[in-house]
Amino acid sequence: MSIYKVKIGIIGGSGLDDPEKQILDSRSITKKEDAKNDFGVPSSDLFNGTLNGVDVVLLSRHGQGHTISPSNVNYRANIEALRLAGCTHILASTACGSLVESITRGQLVIPDSFLDRTVKRNTTFYDGTSKKYPGVCHVPMEPCFDPTTSKILYNVGQELGYDIKKGGTVVSIEGPRFSSKAESKAMRIWGGELINMTTCPEVYLAKEAGLLYAAVAMATDYDCWRDSDDNVHAADVIKVFKENVIKIREILTKAVHIINEKNWDKEIDALKDLLRSSNISS
Ligand code: ADE
Repeated sequence: MSIYKVKIGIIGGSGLDDPEKQILDSRSITKKEDAKNDFGVPSSDLFNGTLNGVDVVLLSRHGQGHTISPSNVNYRANIEALRLAGCTHILASTACGSLVESITRGQLVIPDSFLDRTVKRNTTFYDGTSKKYPGVCHVPMEPCFDPTTSKILYNVGQELGYDIKKGGTVVSIEGPRFSSKAESKAMRIWGGELINMTTCPEVYLAKEAGLLYAAVAMATDYDCWRDSDDNVHAADVIKVFKENVIKIREILTKAVHIINEKNWDKEIDALKDLLRSSNISS
C-alpha cells in the first residue's frame, strides 16, 4: 500500500496552450477550477480530468490563447495551484531552441540540468510571503529534474520509437526577445544544449514545493548560433511544435499510466526530508 496517492499535473507550454482539448481523453469529464492561492492567480483554470484512465490536472503555462509572456507567467501561483490540487508529480512540455548540431528540429529531449539566465522572476516560495513556506530554505539543485520521472518519460519515448535524447542542459533566458548571435554562442560555450524562456523558475519552484517534476522538451529551431539564415522565428517555433505535438501527447498518455502504477513513497519522502533538512531556520 502506498502512503501517497499519485496525481499528475501537466503544464502545457507553447503549442500546447489548450491542454484540455489537446491532451485529455475526449470523453473525460473535466471540472474547471479557479485556483487562486497565496501566490496569486495561475495562468489558467485547472482542468481536472482523466488521461488514459489516470487522474490528471492540466494547466496552460501561457494561458489559453497564449496571452501571458514568459516574464509575466506567475510560476509560483501555477506550482502552488497544482500542489494544492493534490499533485505529486508535474510533467511539463517546453518548446526549445537547439544549441547543438546533434539535436535536430522536432527531436525530443528529457532535460536533466539548467542554466538560469532569467532576471526578473520570483525565484522562491521561501520569501516570507506565505506561512506555508516558513524560514530560509536552500534547496540543492542536483538533481533538479526528478530522475525517476524523467527516466519514465525517456523510456516511453524510446518505446514509441521517437528520436529522443536522455539528458540535456536547458538555458532559460528572460525573453521575450530571442538571443543575439553572441549570446547564443556564449550559451553553447557554457554547456547549454537547449534554450527556452520558462524552465526556470518552474523546475526549481516545483522542487521547493515537494513535487516530482520532469519535462519533455522539443527542439523547434537552432536559435541563431549557426552560420546559416535559418535563425529562430516565433512562427516557426509554433509550426514545428504543432507538427510534432502528437509525440508529446503520446508520451504523456503512456507515461501517466506507468507513473500511476508505481509506488512513489520513497521518492516523495526523500524530497520532503531534503526540504526539511535544507531549511536552516529554527
Ligand atoms: N523557445 C523555442 N525556441 C527558442 C529559442 N531559440 N530561444 C528561446 N526560447 C525558445
